Amino acid sequence: MPTILAIETSCDETAAAIVRDGRRVLANVVASQIELHRAYGGVVPELAARGHITAINPVVERALADAGLTLDGIDAIAVTEGPGLAGALLVGVNWAKAVAWSRGLPLIPVNHLEGHIYANWLLQAGEDQATPPPSFPLVCLIVSGGHTELLLMLGHGHYRLLGRTTDDAAGEAFDKGARILGLGYPGGPAIQRAAAAGQADRYRLPRAWLGDSLDFSYSGVKTALLRATEKHHLTGPTGGRKGKSKGQQPTPAAPFPTYTPPKFGPTLPVADLAAAYQEAIIEPLVEKTARAARESGATMVLLAGGVAANGLLRERLGRRLDLPLRYPPLALCTDNAAMIGAAAAYRLPVGRLADFTLDVRPNFDLI
Ligand code: KG4
Ligand code: ZN
Repeated sequence: MPTILAIETSCDETAAAIVRDGRRVLANVVASQIELHRAYGGVVPELAARGHITAINPVVERALADAGLTLDGIDAIAVTEGPGLAGALLVGVNWAKAVAWSRGLPLIPVNHLEGHIYANWLLQAGEDQATPPPSFPLVCLIVSGGHTELLLMLGHGHYRLLGRTTDDAAGEAFDKGARILGLGYPGGPAIQRAAAAGQADRYRLPRAWLGDSLDFSYSGVKTALLRATEKHHLTGPTGGRKGKSKGQQPTPAAPFPTYTPPKFGPTLPVADLAAAYQEAIIEPLVEKTARAARESGATMVLLAGGVAANGLLRERLGRRLDLPLRYPPLALCTDNAAMIGAAAAYRLPVGRLADFTLDVRPNFDLI
C-alpha cells in the first residue's frame, strides 16, 4: 500500500499530491501561475521556473498537511521528468532528488503524458477501492496544450501509437484561436464559454481529415479562423475589433507578426465563430477516436489532458462510442500531481525507478 508524494512542475502549475495505492488521492494541491503569465498571453518559461522555486515548498507543506501526514508517512517520491519546459522541470526534479536522497526514499520518474493517462485510474466521487480500474486493451486520446495523441494501451506502460497531430496540438489550437478572437488565456475554457452563447452552424470552418489516417492537423483551421476575422465585422465580447469604428486599430494577434488589418465585411458574432471553431477542433477528435475504438478491439476509451475538460468533446464522444468512455474529473484533466502519483504507483512494483543522476527530459516522447 505505497503512499507516494508526487511533484509536477512541467509548465505553469506548481503541484504536489499524495496518492495511496495508485488510486486514492489523499491530497492534491495546485498553485497556478495563470495570473503571472496572463499579461503575456502565454507561458513565459523563465517566469515559470522562478515561480516554481518560490511555490514548491509551501505547496508540498500544504499537501502533507491536507493528508494529515509528515514525510515519515511517505514511501516514495515521484516527479515529472518530461516533457515540458526545461527550467520548470528542473525545479521539480531537483526538489524530488534532494528529498528522496535525504530521506532514503525510492525516486520514481514519470512521463507527463503518462500521468495524464493515469489520472483515469484515480478514484472519482462515489467510487471506492472495489471500483474496477480501466481495463486493457483500451484506446486513449491525449489532448493537451502540447500534445494530441491517439494511443492503444495494451497493459501498464505498454503503448502503441495510432495517430498524432502533424502540426498544432488541440489545446494549442484552442489557445491560438482564443488569441485571434481576443478571448484571452488560457484559450480552451475561454472558447468553450464564448461558444456556449453562440451557434456553431452559422459559420463553416474546415476540418483536416487527412484521408484514412488517424492523424490530426490544426494549422489549417487556425488560419481559416484568422481569415474569417478579417472578412467580418466581429460583434460580441472581445472589445478590440469593435473599437475600429471609433478609429482604434484592432490589437494584432501576437503569434502572427505579418498580420494585416482586417477589412470589415458582414457582421458575425464572436460567439458564433467560437462555436464553429470549437466544432472544427472537436469533430476530427471524436470521429477518429471512435474509428480507432471500433478497429482496435479495445474494451474502453479514455480521455486525457487539459482538453479532456471540454464539455462538447466529452458529450460528443460519449454519444458516438459503443464502448464505455472514462475521463477524469475537471480538476484532474489539467496539470496536477495526483496523476503523476497514479502513474508512479504502477512503476514502483516493477522497479522502474531513477537514481540520483536523473535529469530533465524536455522532449520526452511517450512512445
Ligand atoms: O494538460 P494541460 O493542463 O497542460 C499541458 O500538458 O499542455 O492542458 C492545457 C490545455 C490548454 O491548451 C487549455 O487551453 C486546454 O488544455 N483546455 C481546454 C479546456 N480546459 C483546458 N481546452 C478546451 N476546453 C476546455 N474546457
Ligand atoms: Zn499536461
